[in-house]
Amino acid sequence: MTDHVTTHQAEDDARNEAILLYLNGRILPKAQALVSVYDAGFMLGDGVWEGIRLYNGRWAFIEEHIERLFEAAKAIDLTIGMTPEAVISAVLETQKANGMETDAHARLMVTRGVKSRPFQHPSLSRQGPTVAIIMEHSRPKIPRPIRLATVPHLRGLPMTQDPKLNSHSKLNCILACIAAEKAGADEALMLDVHGFVNTTNACNFFIVKKGEVWTSTGDYCMNGITRRKVIDLCRANGIPVYERNFSLVDTYAADEAFLTGTFGAQTPVGVIDGRQIGTGEMGPMTARLRDLYKDLVGA
Ligand SMILES: Cc1ncc(COP(=O)(O)O)c(C=O)c1O
Repeated sequence: MTDHVTTHQAEDDARNEAILLYLNGRILPKAQALVSVYDAGFMLGDGVWEGIRLYNGRWAFIEEHIERLFEAAKAIDLTIGMTPEAVISAVLETQKANGMETDAHARLMVTRGVKSRPFQHPSLSRQGPTVAIIMEHSRPKIPRPIRLATVPHLRGLPMTQDPKLNSHSKLNCILACIAAEKAGADEALMLDVHGFVNTTNACNFFIVKKGEVWTSTGDYCMNGITRRKVIDLCRANGIPVYERNFSLVDTYAADEAFLTGTFGAQTPVGVIDGRQIGTGEMGPMTARLRDLYKDLVGA
């Protein structure tokens, strides 16, 4: 038995059996929030999404998430059919219906909608987009530092499927995750097309070396909102931070490594490709950045 963990592991919460979800303007019990098998999201992964978190009554950086959602929708030529304000209202309405005040996570999804026939052409989606919000009680519970394995799946160039798109189709990342799991790790460390360390299959990646915080240039990874907040927090607190190219040699020798993402905030990394990173436990810089981030989101 491996003690495999994921970066999106949460405490069991029985209340999640009775949650209400948002689907196309309606708030429905989970079992009734169903989409057609003709939906472009189901059939082709043709949609975009955002993950947001509720801390003490506030959805952290919600305006930035909604802005990124609309940017992605525009890039794939998908009309959401709602204003950004209306999307935020839908989130708040779902939150209210569920009586959630803190420690909730929402996945906001927009697909090209139900197709008239089961083929790829986007014009076959004629009924308008499908807009859905899954909102769950969620308190991250990641029992130990994450183990990463480098995989052969790359973060691609923008002219194939731009890695900055939070698309429903995540097959490249899923294959990376499967490869990492088969190598005995929890999540995949992905390189860019030049072989520099870039990001993981579901989170952004940072290392700490001699008091400096390094992350990739950002060219091939998701433009993570948590990533940006960590960089800003470093700058505001006099911590040297660099967005730069670095390789596995720099990475294995790092004092600390951590991941960032809306769900887990900052998650320590203990092992990469069988090499222990630092002490293998959460390091002081990661702990400091976690505290600064907690203050920022009001956790
Ligand atoms: C591939 C990938 N990397 C990183 C992130 C983290 O981004 P954020 O900090 O905005 O949640 C996400 C989240 O959607 C992601 O899908």
